[in-house]
Amino acid sequence: METYLKILATGIALPDKVLYNADLERMVETSDEWILTRTGISERRIAEKDVATSDLAADAGRMALAGAAKLPEDVDLIIVATATGDHLFPSTACIVQDKLGAVNATAFDLSAACSGFLYGLTVVHSLLSTGVYRNALIIGAETLSKITDYSDRATCILFGDGAGAMFVEPGTDGKGLFASHLGSDGSLTKLLNLPAGGSRMPASRETVDSGQHFIKMNGNELFKVAVRSMEVAATRTAEKAGIDLADVDLLIPHQANIRIINSLGKRLGVEKEKVFVNIDRFGNTSAASIPIAYHEVRAGGRYDHDSNILLVAFGGGITWGGVLIRG
Ligand code: UT7
Repeated sequence: METYLKILATGIALPDKVLYNADLERMVETSDEWILTRTGISERRIAEKDVATSDLAADAGRMALAGAAKLPEDVDLIIVATATGDHLFPSTACIVQDKLGAVNATAFDLSAACSGFLYGLTVVHSLLSTGVYRNALIIGAETLSKITDYSDRATCILFGDGAGAMFVEPGTDGKGLFASHLGSDGSLTKLLNLPAGGSRMPASRETVDSGQHFIKMNGNELFKVAVRSMEVAATRTAEKAGIDLADVDLLIPHQANIRIINSLGKRLGVEKEKVFVNIDRFGNTSAASIPIAYHEVRAGGRYDHDSNILLVAFGGGITWGGVLIRG
């Protein structure tokens, strides 16, 4: 019998501090009008100086555990998808394990940038279907503000901080995640990267002075790749699920740019009312974008147990992915 990934509960954590377009107007040569029309973003959340990715991740995880009525010691597996882990090592997942007191869990990080949460769901689907683990807490968490250059107007307008989590178990009642498709193209790493701080370019006075610890992005090229790769992810996932794109009740795309989201909807033939958008409030939160959006959809209670919800993402690497959730 096919195993589904049953989503028992979700959680989110968002910093209180809001960075408005008007604030950015005072920092770089830009305008509220430019940001809104080119990206769809009005505001984004920014973590305080003493808040790291694991803090947001643990808060979101705690909320998901409470929603599922589980104790920390019940958790078998913790995966944190992030591009802004607390350290190069140890993993942020291990820090989260400790913060939660999930003493019986195996914990590891997953690196696939903005597609990380969907990679995590797919990996967990396999591990739970084969009985290797009995349940999992999957978290997408980022503090992108820590690696954003607030003097670079092409990137600083886009990114925000946050975390989203899901507590999942295997299920056989036909509800939950049942199909997915992942892909990568390592020839395009240069489109979006963080040059320094790893073994290729270790931290030095020069790397700091030349701003190599900040996100570097080729926005125009990435825009085209984003639409193309998410179209592939959506189409292949629907194929694997054995459904037509016309049967998708809700499309939740990675929130990177409203124009990317609109182009994707158009290419897939999914009506605007069926495409979820919250980029106006949170900007691009990378691996946290999909789980925050899914949490808001669930909290909204608009979708019943027979709805087909298609989640799609793309990110640095480049990577892409789609998953189909029923209910
Ligand atoms: O999770 C994945 C992460 N990244 C993405 O998904 C990014 C995908 N790409 C994008 O979202 C868009 O390419 C951007 C929003 C980054 C840029 O929008 P665009 O429509 O592609 O603008 P552009 O880069 O072609 O720039 C157009 C003009 C340029 O001026 P000139 O050369 O025409 O005089 C830029 O210098 O807009 C200028 N510009 C700005 N103007 C005001 C760039 N950023 C800004 C800004 N405010 N913040």
